Amino acid sequence: MTTWDERFRAGEYPTDPDPSPVLERYVETFPDGRALDIATGTGRNAVFLAREGYRVDAIDQSRVGLEIARGNAESHGVAGRTNWIQADVPSFSFPEATYDVITISFYRAIDRLADIKNALADGGVLFVEHHLRTSDPVDVGPPGGRYRFGANELLHACLDLTVLYFDATTEQLEDGRTTATARIIARNTTGREQSYPEPER
Ligand SMILES: C[S@@+](CC[C@H](N)C(=O)[O-])C[C@H]1O[C@@H](n2cnc3c(N)ncnc32)[C@H](O)[C@@H]1O
Repeated sequence: MTTWDERFRAGEYPTDPDPSPVLERYVETFPDGRALDIATGTGRNAVFLAREGYRVDAIDQSRVGLEIARGNAESHGVAGRTNWIQADVPSFSFPEATYDVITISFYRAIDRLADIKNALADGGVLFVEHHLRTSDPVDVGPPGGRYRFGANELLHACLDLTVLYFDATTEQLEDGRTTATARIIARNTTGREQSYPEPER
């Protein structure tokens, strides 16, 4: 099986891609401070958050991905605000109540979600996006349903937070391929501040 190191080394992925559009759109509503990007890959969201002023920790198992990410942080002038951690997410010790923003793009961390939510500071925001299980034909992401989110699985897993945004959609990419994705933004708050969707600011 091809490893992520081999994929990144072979240039199968763009080395400095744009951040996730939903993250880009909503970041100005997030609290400032410390961010954690889980399964950062070549660091597109981590570097974006650092450029937005966050102090960013970013985890990935891939040494090659992290080398590319470190280079991207340097070329964007944010190396001083980024900390690249080579680690295995399933066994990683997430610190408690630490991060104002946590992002996870296209890595299925559902088994660690309880610890990841515990790593949010009070009022901290979690952004997750991942491939969705769908009966529509799709060209992107893992084949079959096993490694995808089921319908509303991500939403259900975050109902102990304040859900600010959720979508589960099938979309056509610019290159014509079809992809199905679930995305959520949820804040570590409860009680009176609960609202879904969040009212316009
Ligand atoms: C599809 S890529 C997503 C990269 C990045 N989040 C993005 O959206 O551009 C999945 C990433 O998960 C990382 N990954 C896979 N299994 C992992 C594990 N057990 N621990 C840490 N990272 C892992 C891979 O190395 C790869 O960088």
